[in-house]
Amino acid sequence: HLSVQERIEKKRKAALTGGGQLRIAAQHKRGKLTARERLELLLDPDSFVEYDMFVEHRCSDFGMEADHNKYPGDSVVTGQGRINGRLVYVFSQDFTVFGGSLSGAHAQKVCKVMDQAMMVGAPVIGLNDSGGARIQEGVESLAGYADIFLRNVMASGVVPQISLIMGPCAGGAVYSPALTDFTFMVKDTSYLFITGPDVVKSVTNEDVTQEELGGAKTHTTVSGVAHRAFENDVDALLNLRDFFNFLPLSNKDPAPVTECHDPRDRPVPGLDTIVPFESTKAYDMLDIVHGIVDEREFFEIMPNYAKNIVVGFARMNGRTVGIVGNQPKVASGCLDVNSSVKGARFVRFCDAFNIPIITFVDVPGFLPGSTEASSDTEPNCAYDVMSSKHLRGDVNYAWPSAEVAVMGAKGAVQIIFRGKENQAEAEAEYVEKFANPFPAAVRGFVDDIIQPSTTRKRLCRDLEVLASKKQTNPWKKHANIPL
Ligand code: COA
Repeated sequence: HLSVQERIEKKRKAALTGGGQLRIAAQHKRGKLTARERLELLLDPDSFVEYDMFVEHRCSDFGMEADHNKYPGDSVVTGQGRINGRLVYVFSQDFTVFGGSLSGAHAQKVCKVMDQAMMVGAPVIGLNDSGGARIQEGVESLAGYADIFLRNVMASGVVPQISLIMGPCAGGAVYSPALTDFTFMVKDTSYLFITGPDVVKSVTNEDVTQEELGGAKTHTTVSGVAHRAFENDVDALLNLRDFFNFLPLSNKDPAPVTECHDPRDRPVPGLDTIVPFESTKAYDMLDIVHGIVDEREFFEIMPNYAKNIVVGFARMNGRTVGIVGNQPKVASGCLDVNSSVKGARFVRFCDAFNIPIITFVDVPGFLPGSTEASSDTEPNCAYDVMSSKHLRGDVNYAWPSAEVAVMGAKGAVQIIFRGKENQAEAEAEYVEKFANPFPAAVRGFVDDIIQPSTTRKRLCRDLEVLASKKQTNPWKKHANIPL
């Protein structure tokens, strides 16, 4: 007979080895780290405080009640820790225990950290690696998923929720990550699908590989379900640490301010000549973004999806900002449905967490679908139309090259002077009148016409002033605009 102390030690030891050395070796052979190794890389050294190491599944069907089918902690490691000293709640699914599948007990552990995260106001990071519902448990497992989904919805807009997909994520396991604010994946070893290739084949007779169906490439380029893909577990976890540094802990906390070695009034001379004289020529919006933000550091979100719009996080004088920019290099930067949804969801995140947005506007055609800026209450700095004064842009600047018009001169003249002589003359008149920043500036729709090289200095100053901005919207339960 073991003493209580001995039993405690034995269970702790068992919890630390999860599904055992053989399965750990198999996990490593797949190029994956274990649930605990991942947490070690993600969190500051010695900061992890584990909960529920003694929780075991409660299933008694299919021989599951046998001792050798019980693993202390079950198939998920949960708790809280620090990233660069800042609190975060975590759960890391353990593929070595029943394929990381979700039992009632597993769900209960995840819900506990989510509840506490909401209560104290700290983000939740989920490291996902799971074969879905615990098949032996059936409805108990499905109920557990629903408990998690409810918390995903409740926490949305209260604390940031981030998912990193680090293995298979099948069936019920896909919905929760898809509800979180940011979903990142690991290339070649992670998948998100509702059901695997075998079931697809039996239902639709379609031959499809795991990678095509739900790999990182599919979700970061075609479906838009995932926001970034990384090379391997280590790369993903280190990037996640960097990403975390941009975010506030909750909707009541400001984003962290980091020490900035990049002078706030640094001129950016390259910007004076970056926009080609002929407005039909393309340039790379990323060059503008990199030039203006602190240390050229830009964490792009969805870099390979709807590339006609660029969104991501950066800092201005050490403060987090959201960046939205049209990308003239792709489809002339025209807005379409996918780019509008990409932009709108990003803006909505920033608004929910009071992160100011800088919008770089160069959009040739004003296609419908860009309602994104209309309800922001966060500080908003922009050049002309996308986040205009009328949509509550706080500061709007135009560069001298800006053209603020309904459409290009040629198209305009063909419509309003159709069939008339002297088309060329009319076109010249239209250009003289509208193909410049004055029509907007004389009406106060842009606050100033600025030299491009001074943009960083101006924006840093504005953001400082606007940090204390307060604005409220009329009371409502919630909005119902299409997304
Ligand atoms: N419930 C219980 N156990 C599960 C499980 C689940 N949903 N998914 C995987 N496992 C177990 C396996 O029985 C195996 O156990 P073992 O180590 O004792 O042999 C272990 O997890 C590893 O699974 P395995 O199938 O050997 O790994 P793989 O890498 O070849 O495949 C999956 C991984 C996830 C693709 C595959 O296991 C799978 O298709 N699982 C079922 C997915 C699903 O349809 N889930 C229910 C829908 S909600």
